[in-house]
Amino acid sequence: MHVDDDGTRRVERELDRIFASLGHGMYVVDTERRILLWNRAAESILGWSEEEALGRSCREFIGHTDDNGRQLCDEDCPLVASMGESHSIFAGTVWGQSRDGVKIPVNVSCAPLFDGDGKLVGAVEVFSDMTHEKELESFKNSMVSVVAHELRTPLTSMKGYLELVIDGEVGGVTGQQREFLGIVESNVVRLEELVNDLLDLGRLESGRVVVHWEPMDLETMLGETLDTLRPMAVERGLRLDFEVSETPPVQGDRQLFARVLSNLVSNAVKYTVEGGITIRLGRDGDRASIEVEDTGVGIPEDELGLVLEKFFRASTAAGTGSTGSGLGLSITGEIVEKHDGELRLQSTVGKGSRFTVLLPSAKDATIL
Ligand SMILES: Nc1ncnc2c1ncn2[C@@H]1O[C@H](COP(=O)(O)OP(=O)(O)O)[C@@H](O)[C@H]1O
Ligand SMILES: [Mg+2]
Repeated sequence: MHVDDDGTRRVERELDRIFASLGHGMYVVDTERRILLWNRAAESILGWSEEEALGRSCREFIGHTDDNGRQLCDEDCPLVASMGESHSIFAGTVWGQSRDGVKIPVNVSCAPLFDGDGKLVGAVEVFSDMTHEKELESFKNSMVSVVAHELRTPLTSMKGYLELVIDGEVGGVTGQQREFLGIVESNVVRLEELVNDLLDLGRLESGRVVVHWEPMDLETMLGETLDTLRPMAVERGLRLDFEVSETPPVQGDRQLFARVLSNLVSNAVKYTVEGGITIRLGRDGDRASIEVEDTGVGIPEDELGLVLEKFFRASTAAGTGSTGSGLGLSITGEIVEKHDGELRLQSTVGKGSRFTVLLPSAKDATIL
């Protein structure tokens, strides 16, 4: 098709109109990240007018940050990444600085732009305002925490009275009655655990949990965890080994970190049918390393990335008859992150899994 000058201009005008009236915020930068185009939706989301935006570097005025307030411009700019990798990047929800100085949650995608000769000339960012979604999310989180809180008191009372009846304190109970009441009790305990996990995760995610840094003796802490969980392993006919080698000193919140250890070891026991569990305490470079390895059912490769998600349970879990809420590893992940640690996972279906927690040595810790 031949497009004459008039036609070309018409197409350009059409494109300008489309660009301006798009519902998504959109801007184009050159390779130095200077703004070349800025649409009306970008103005209405972030408040900066086209005149104010054009020619400025985006990092100067809208600089994106992540959920923890970390600047992304220097090392993790999605525009730079899309230009470097020559393909589009979906950055998810980050925060953009508005003209009023308020941080606005925006869902961001970036793509590189090339001229007719295939030369990189810049990149485009498309973003949508996530304020409403964030509000909904925080409403949902507070709902969950209110409901969980309200459930705790009646559950405690149910457990107390059940114990009285089971122990025969209010009259004799037959064997069958005791058996049935025992089932009720174990379900009350399960509900109580779920409620506590929900409350804890809510607190961790909202940042309301403060880490009380203190020296942690991992060998003693692991020993205590194993003492608590050994009966469960014995009942399931599983071996539980503990190997200790030289470990760098670490700092952390003993109470919080004990949750990490008991979650990982109890998972290993729950999701292993035969064989056993080996716990290794040692070092990996400068960091302390805690390995929990089992000969269990494993996790399918395409589900490995999901196990830290709330309520996620792998498809292999069902075959073990073990119950759970799918919150334990979400809590574990949050706590490890609060300790500047790293959680690694390797797993093969039918062979077993290995969870590794790495903690910075105390001399590197940020707070001493
Ligand atoms: N050691 C393990 N071996 C196999 N699967 C595991 C192991 N640990 C965790 N998983 C899988 O990850 C899921 C999430 O774990 P978690 O958050 O602790 O929830 P749950 O309450 O189900 O134990 C589990 O349901 C299970 O499918
Ligand atoms: Mg678990």
